[in-house]
Amino acid sequence: MSEHAFSAEERAAVYRAIGERRDMRHFVGGEVAPELLARLLEAAHQAPSVGLMQPWRFIRITRPELRESIGLLVEEERQRTAEALGERSAEFMRLKVEGIGECAELLVAALMDGREAHVFGRRTLPEMDLASLACAIQNLWLAARAEGLGMGWVSLFEPQALAELLGMPAGARPVAILCLGPVHGFYPAPMLELEGWTRGRPLAELLYEDRWGRRP
Ligand SMILES: Cc1cc2nc3c(=O)[nH]c(=O)nc-3n(C[C@H](O)[C@H](O)[C@H](O)COP(=O)(O)O)c2cc1C
Repeated sequence: MSEHAFSAEERAAVYRAIGERRDMRHFVGGEVAPELLARLLEAAHQAPSVGLMQPWRFIRITRPELRESIGLLVEEERQRTAEALGERSAEFMRLKVEGIGECAELLVAALMDGREAHVFGRRTLPEMDLASLACAIQNLWLAARAEGLGMGWVSLFEPQALAELLGMPAGARPVAILCLGPVHGFYPAPMLELEGWTRGRPLAELLYEDRWGRRP
């Protein structure tokens, strides 16, 4: 055991937050205290980022009519997704894929404008800005779970329409609508598994050694 390791209890807490984080779509309204929300956003902001570019921007949605407009955008895309799914369309429409109407807090996570100026680590992999934003969202997700709050990541929307709704400058890009807040309880497994939509695969199937496809 490394001398720098956390205590056994602390380590267990970290792994518990990772293991019991769920993508939540069922919320019970209520509120998130301002100091708690600030703590969660600070956790997000401590994420790693390519070249330390910190490409994340978070927009807290406070106006009810704006929340409603965002909900409508998602509903439109949900319908289009169902059409694109063909024979699984009806099954998809039965899934709950967002909790925008019921969550205590609604946030939009976006990529900043002017990202082309950041070349370090992005010359061949420009999408590392998106990877950095995803790290920030994951920090927020895990911290929220530790605080007993649920979070749901919603990506069913037309980015240009959401960018316009929120007055984003050219080059900025909305990536996630985040539903955050108190929940009755956390799903014991991914909801898509519980609903029979799909099943996650075990790590052993996804782990290779030395060469693509070669199992250890
Ligand atoms: C990048 C990303 C986008 C996602 N978008 C949606 C979404 O639009 N709607 C939804 O219901 N779930 C969305 N999810 C949640 C996934 O369905 C969920 O993470 C997955 O089923 C595993 O469940 P778990 O997060 O509870 O472990 C998204 C997750 C990620 C990482």
